[in-house]
Amino acid sequence: MAAKNIKGIKILGIDTSCDDTAISVMEIRNSKFEIRSNVVSSQVKLHQKYGGVYPSLAKREHQKNLPVVFRKALRQAQGKPNDIDFIGVTNGPGLEPCLWQGINFAKDLAERLKKPIVPVNHIEAHILANLINRRPPSIMFPVVALVVSGGHTQLILMRGIGKYKLIGETRDDAAGECFDKTARILGLSYPGGPAIAKIASLGNLVSKKETKFPVSLPRPMMHQKNYDFSFSGLKTAVLYKARELKTINYKLKTELCAEIQQAIIDVLLYKTIKAAKNYKARSIILGGGVAANDELRKQFKLKIKNLKFKINFFVPGRIYCTDNAAMVAITAFYHRTQKVKNIKAQADLQI
Ligand code: KG4
Ligand code: ZN
Repeated sequence: MAAKNIKGIKILGIDTSCDDTAISVMEIRNSKFEIRSNVVSSQVKLHQKYGGVYPSLAKREHQKNLPVVFRKALRQAQGKPNDIDFIGVTNGPGLEPCLWQGINFAKDLAERLKKPIVPVNHIEAHILANLINRRPPSIMFPVVALVVSGGHTQLILMRGIGKYKLIGETRDDAAGECFDKTARILGLSYPGGPAIAKIASLGNLVSKKETKFPVSLPRPMMHQKNYDFSFSGLKTAVLYKARELKTINYKLKTELCAEIQQAIIDVLLYKTIKAAKNYKARSIILGGGVAANDELRKQFKLKIKNLKFKINFFVPGRIYCTDNAAMVAITAFYHRTQKVKNIKAQADLQI
């Protein structure tokens, strides 16, 4: 997976698929990927009062942020617009009005600089984020990749870069969405994943000697034969639990958070390992915002280490799990021959 014998290419990556405005400059030098800049302007504070992303607001913010983020990314990279060889921009999947902001910005820039554009699939970018800062790239195929974000929960069989087969996905809510919605039920802030993880970790500290997880929640679809997921039942179970308990004191809240997190991890871990066994995968890789979860990373690592067969495990650094444009630039590099003239947003783009 190395960028063999390629020198001095500079790629500008752009991602506006959801609520982060992200631009990165990546350089391939001496066959190595170097992130020259990676700027992410988060809209979290703005969307917090809605408990989730408000698309028309996100679109307006992207429009406002893009020129600022672009200048910052160039300044950090100590580069000039003309140094860029080509532009990689996410064209889906994502929120359509938001995708268009990034695409239109890329188109204007491409026209002004007379540089080509490479469209990037956001899910593939979450997978290839595993190549960032990795030396030497030792990912062996076949790979089972688990992409877990706010919009997606997918298990993908990968036989090479660009060779993907979707083997399972969520039938309703994504894992990140489940974190976000259950956090809202418990009165925690958006994004729910980090909020639940933080309270869950405090829970483990206070109730070490007491019965762990007295609150028990379902693990939907865990033992079904397929590789699909379902998280809306878990959300409903949390809603009923919260109603039944009426007042949720601090200790109960920590236990509920720990159990929500564990229920999500149990299902993701079980199905990923099952897929890896059945497809005789040589590597398991994770990607997407939920892969930033400490407990999930720890439990995957431990489980894979203790398997009877050898399998390599990869997860990007935490900042490359959540949305960023370095992953877009790296993906554009692998598809650099697929330059397009008329790029369109595709909200439901499949891998
Ligand atoms: O990949 P991402 O930044 O955006 C999408 O493509 O959706 O993922 C965002 C999701 C949110 O649902 C957020 O709650 C979740 O990732 N997330 C986490 C953590 N950090 C972000 N979930 C669990 N634990 C975390 N530490
Ligand atoms: Zn994402």
